[in-house]
Amino acid sequence: MKVGILKERTQYERRVAAVPETISKMVKAGTEVLVETGAGDGSFIDDKAFEAAGARICPDAASLLAEAEVVIKVNRPGNEEIAGMKDGAVFVGFIGAAANPETVKALAGKGVTSFAMEMVPRITRAQRMDALSTMSTAAGYKAVLLAANACGRFFPMLTTAVGSVPPAKAILIGVGVAGLQAIATARRLGAVVTAFDTRPAAGEQAKSLGAEFVAMDVDHSQAEDAGGYAKEQTEDFYKQEQDLIRKHSKDADIVITTALIPGKRAPMLITEEMVKEMKPGSVIVDLAVEMGGNCVLSELGKEVVKYGVTVIGPANLPSGLPVHSSLLYAKNMLAFLNLISPDGKGLNIDLADDIIKGSMVTHSGEVTHPAFKKQG
Ligand code: NAI
Repeated sequence: MKVGILKERTQYERRVAAVPETISKMVKAGTEVLVETGAGDGSFIDDKAFEAAGARICPDAASLLAEAEVVIKVNRPGNEEIAGMKDGAVFVGFIGAAANPETVKALAGKGVTSFAMEMVPRITRAQRMDALSTMSTAAGYKAVLLAANACGRFFPMLTTAVGSVPPAKAILIGVGVAGLQAIATARRLGAVVTAFDTRPAAGEQAKSLGAEFVAMDVDHSQAEDAGGYAKEQTEDFYKQEQDLIRKHSKDADIVITTALIPGKRAPMLITEEMVKEMKPGSVIVDLAVEMGGNCVLSELGKEVVKYGVTVIGPANLPSGLPVHSSLLYAKNMLAFLNLISPDGKGLNIDLADDIIKGSMVTHSGEVTHPAFKKQG
């Protein structure tokens, strides 16, 4: 079986879908690995390192696609890449299938069997393939570094000859994967952290990392669905939550928001009035900006200063940590490849498998995933 690793073409993308460590394992199992030249540049992996791991370097995407039976990437394939794929090829990557119906249609039209990494079900057996979680871990860590960089003050309490400075006060809204890593990182830097989440279960996790948890008046059955994900709340509830957050955000130095309801617009939890009341020099990092944002002032990919508050709406934070984001994504990818090719020598896709069913978007010329069928 030939697996091809394409160079990412999305602007500012620095990650790559395989690293020498995962390629060595593939080669050892009998997989032939092709890498497009320069694919690892953004992650400081040169062609020689890929070759040393047993890969063959292809001079361009077209020559790689002409041979590869399985094509892997971080981001969705472009039209030219899809057109260049072999008939019956397999593609695996973050397709962003819900937001990119044209890509889904093109993959089906070309007869590609495609798997979306963002659709891998979050079940125990799929944990090693859960790239959303590994990338959110990177994003949560990086969000705190961005905040620390922009806020112009120390995070830890410091005692100097001319007096002491108190520790920074951080507010963390949304204690999921990104939020937990953000709490851990802010605590390591010495900030005092107060966390909010609608799921009571998140409280214990936040407290175990040294944060104070502000519980909200929502009973367990209304807080989360059967899969453990947050449920959407009423407008009234969000107003009450805003009031609660407002009490803490007034004297906060940093606010990091990661509140997300799967498949829905992110809840709007920080109003313009609330920003106006915050301390000049404080910073908001809104990780949910791609889903509409938790703060009304955040703009995707921008740093906006309003009322003396810096509001950051970062795009693609994991790419800002390319070495480890690539390593973790590559490991998630290798685990997925082991599922569709247990021996590494040929494809053996079990269409009845829950992970396959959950992540397969197109197959045999059709859009197979029920969520995207009408896009085909
Ligand atoms: P997750 O689903 O693990 O966590 C989201 C958390 O928000 C859950 O704990 C949920 O209970 C909580 N939540 C929902 N509604 C809430 C509310 N009203 N108040 C307080 N908490 C609430 O998601 P994950 O993986 O941690 O991702 C978090 C966000 O970060 C997402 O919006 C994701 O798209 C974004 N993200 C952004 C990146 C970037 O580069 N900008 C990179 C990775 C993730």
